[in-house]
Amino acid sequence: MCGIVGYIGFRDAYPIVIKGLHRLEYRGYDSAGVAVQNNGLKVYKKAGKVSDLENFVKDIDTDGTVAMGHTRWATHGAPSDRNSHPHSSGDRKLTIIHNGIIENYAVVKEALLAKGHVFKSDTDTEVLIHLVEDIRNETNLDLNECVRLALNRVVGAYAIVIMSVDDPDQIIAARKGSPMVIGVGKGEYFIASDATPIVEYTKNVIYLNDNEIAYIKRDDLLIKSIDNKVQTPYIQKLELQLEMLEKGGYDHFMLKEIYEQPRSVGDCLRGRIYPDRGLVQLGGIKEYAEKLKNIDRIIIVACGTSWHAGLVGEYLIEEYARVPVEVEYASEFRYRNPIITEKDVVIAISQSGETADTMAAIELAKERGATIFGICNVVGASIPRLSHAGVYTHAGPEIGVASTKAFTAQVTALTMLAFYTAQQRGAITESKLIEYLTELNNIPALIQKTFAANDHIKTISEEYKDASNCLFLGRGSSFPVALEGALKLKEISYIHAEGYPAAEMKHGPIALIDADMPVVFIATQNSSYEKVISNIQEVKARGGRVIAIVTEGDTIVRDMAEHTIEIPEVSEAFVPLLATIPLQLLSYHIAVLRGCNVDQPRNLAKSVTVE
Ligand code: F6R
Repeated sequence: MCGIVGYIGFRDAYPIVIKGLHRLEYRGYDSAGVAVQNNGLKVYKKAGKVSDLENFVKDIDTDGTVAMGHTRWATHGAPSDRNSHPHSSGDRKLTIIHNGIIENYAVVKEALLAKGHVFKSDTDTEVLIHLVEDIRNETNLDLNECVRLALNRVVGAYAIVIMSVDDPDQIIAARKGSPMVIGVGKGEYFIASDATPIVEYTKNVIYLNDNEIAYIKRDDLLIKSIDNKVQTPYIQKLELQLEMLEKGGYDHFMLKEIYEQPRSVGDCLRGRIYPDRGLVQLGGIKEYAEKLKNIDRIIIVACGTSWHAGLVGEYLIEEYARVPVEVEYASEFRYRNPIITEKDVVIAISQSGETADTMAAIELAKERGATIFGICNVVGASIPRLSHAGVYTHAGPEIGVASTKAFTAQVTALTMLAFYTAQQRGAITESKLIEYLTELNNIPALIQKTFAANDHIKTISEEYKDASNCLFLGRGSSFPVALEGALKLKEISYIHAEGYPAAEMKHGPIALIDADMPVVFIATQNSSYEKVISNIQEVKARGGRVIAIVTEGDTIVRDMAEHTIEIPEVSEAFVPLLATIPLQLLSYHIAVLRGCNVDQPRNLAKSVTVE
């Protein structure tokens, strides 16, 4: 949510910053801006995408070796030129970019207004830079100290970068609750919300910790805690490859990421399952293997698509490990005084590892003594760092805002976790494990097979592209798949869609069904197959049009539905991993046919770092 880039060194800074903003645009894309040290501190900003900013700036001299830029997802203040970052102090000597929310901005603003400060925007960010200016005017302390004092006075989350006209050879960066990475070069430093703008220049990075401030010069980096203690930076090597950030010949990142799933699921499984020995090894949680034997309950917390993965996990863990599971929206969990004990394991699922609601849920569960497992895609993100143990999903960078490969990797990780827990508790026989793990090992190849339906799905999409509503129905572990299918369709095509357990349809949603209502069923040949067939008949009897995801070779549903999309036959445990793929493709093609911006749907951001 909001992307930040900064550069100080010997190269032309503006192109580095703009390229970095393009990479970070998934974090927010309603306005963008840059500040460059170019005979004074020059600020350019514009509502719209980064490309709108580029057009706006194209004839202006942006030379300079120190710059910073921001791409915004609006929180305080509508998307507009005036609310775009950077924001400047009243004397225009200081300028700031910010990701996060200053929660006490209203109180601070009131005090500053009383002292005569004049604000040009509606943002919380502008208040922070005026506060720094105010402290400087009152104390005459140097800027570094004024920034530190100001940060001690604000409440909330931030990743900020500050530049000053009087200090043109320094950038100040700080973080609390919002991500910030510093790339370390020779005679140059890069600053960004994640490593994607940095990877082509250096593989050496420092992840700034909460409550740290970095004072960055071309040849010098000083990191201090907010209470003024010098910190020793820990330089890590990036594993990210540049090719992972390119579209690689696909029209959209989303399509590329859908097609990457045989690889991403394979990467998630690699080195963790041993089918011939009937063994699952999850190195990231092995210290807690004993604990898993004795737990009474698992609580899963997550948001959005990750929450859907959690629901699939609930089915799998209860079915195979026989441990009761509760799946909670992270945003609700923390506000209802949940009962958590030291015997609970709380699993937090997050692609980005930065989702504010999920982080807050973890903090609450930790305070109450629970053991936290993180299931996360982004290595080194805040959620794995907050967790006691965890499993990385290894899906690789997901750039499309709508989650695809991250979801199937999360489901893969949860599937392994279910079998791992079952193994620890003796809830599953070795021969059964050999059988399941052999099948799981083959899932990447079967995902590849599902792509054979792509052209057929595109043809179906032509027929339904103008629908206004759509229902997605499934039972058992296909119910969360239905929820995920509906979420995908609504977020990228703006068609209203709902996911329901198929049997619940008759308790309300059935009233909506008519010839204009496409109904997507997950109707594979599993335990509830006959029941789902009855539900399909109920829809047909009311004139609804049915698209059904079926098991290869199914003729019964084929004779009833308008369209069927086949997936390979697998055990019930693995249906979510396959049935999700055609639903992703269906949403993708419908959205493209409607002319929607598939990779950057309106109003969304990939990393939701505000509550
Ligand atoms: C939907 C989507 C979101 C995220 C949600 C949680 O396609 O991507 O619903 O799943 O914002 O994000 P993470 O997984 O990063 O915590």
